Amino acid sequence: MDLDPILELARRRGILVVEDAAHAFGARYKGRPAGTLGDFGAFSFHEKKNVNSFGEGGILATNLPVGEKLRQARFLGLDPSRKAASWVYDVVALEGRRGPFVAGNSSSTEIQAVGLSVQLARMPRILEERRRAAEYLSGRFAASPALVPEQPDSADFLSTHHLYLLQTSPGSAGVQKLKEELAARGVANIPHFAPLYKFELLHRLGYSERSCARSCPVAEEAFLRRFTHLPLHGLPGERLTNLADAVLAAAARL
Ligand SMILES: Cc1ncc(COP(=O)(O)O)c(C=O)c1O
Repeated sequence: MDLDPILELARRRGILVVEDAAHAFGARYKGRPAGTLGDFGAFSFHEKKNVNSFGEGGILATNLPVGEKLRQARFLGLDPSRKAASWVYDVVALEGRRGPFVAGNSSSTEIQAVGLSVQLARMPRILEERRRAAEYLSGRFAASPALVPEQPDSADFLSTHHLYLLQTSPGSAGVQKLKEELAARGVANIPHFAPLYKFELLHRLGYSERSCARSCPVAEEAFLRRFTHLPLHGLPGERLTNLADAVLAAAARL
């Protein structure tokens, strides 16, 4: 997918782009690191991600001159440039006292930082293992007319292979049927990302799923008929082979 026209349109209209790069730490788009394409890039180091900080963790990246504000927002709005005799309770240093400022507490521990540093050093190997696993699955899936293998890494698109994008062919019985067939073979725990308008919260906010679905035919087709995901992490050879076997057996029923 070519993102440049979307980024260019946003730039011309003065719209700030927040890039959800939660899974994409280490990915590149046309030579540029994911998370640096828009105005803000958010990365997740939650325990399920490729590299993690032993629990919750993340990075917000930006080139905008708001870094200091973000540092304050990270920890209760505390302004580190102001001297505080007793920093925990000295509310003078809390930015919120001098104007509206919504701050949270997103500080991580030093132990987590050590864990993340170790993980970052391992990252090239982690990405390489995932890339090889993805290539293996794509090679196997190329044999099935019901499946479209994932796009391989190229000079323009470098994936982190957090999940394998499993795609069914347009003329096949579709991804819901594939998932049923996979579940019957013991491959049941498949992450399948839904469009936002399918979430209960949006219904409660007054969005009608039916009218959103009518105006988002591509999202409907992708969610209901074409795409789902396979896990890639930590699968040693035999389990990856079993996964590919199960997908091919399920795809043969489409
Ligand atoms: C696309 C996407 N964005 C954001 C998040 C949230 O990340 P975190 O759990 O670090 O808040 C996730 C978590 O899986 C995600 O998949």
